[in-house]
Amino acid sequence: TFVVTEPCIQCKYTDCVTVCPMDCFMEGPNFLVINPDECIDCSMCVAECPVGAIVGDRELAADQAHFLELNRSLSAHPDWQRITMSKPALPEHEKWARTTTKLSLLLE
Ligand code: SF4
Ligand code: F3S
Repeated sequence: TFVVTEPCIQCKYTDCVTVCPMDCFMEGPNFLVINPDECIDCSMCVAECPVGAIVGDRELAADQAHFLELNRSLSAHPDWQRITMSKPALPEHEKWARTTTKLSLLLE
């Protein structure tokens, strides 16, 4: 599966969702996740993300490894909705795109 990692937090550009043939992106307040049970590993979404947040599970850096389980658990969050059409990025995306450590800001 492919995994959405930390750079997405507080940016949420959503370019990724429009190319997914399986519609497996789920949206929370300031982050998206990929449902690992639906992803078919096509890798189409990877190049779409302007901050490089989408990574294959076998290529995850050690400090991002926990995002695999986070994508799985948040996919089942009762308030998170499937997203298939892009929307404007979050208001301060430019500022947050320069910050790599922002897991503590993740909203559920
Ligand atoms: Fe969708 Fe393909 Fe990305 Fe998986 S790798 S989330 S199937 S676009
Ligand atoms: Fe997030 Fe990148 Fe998609 S910032 S919403 S993974 S395009």
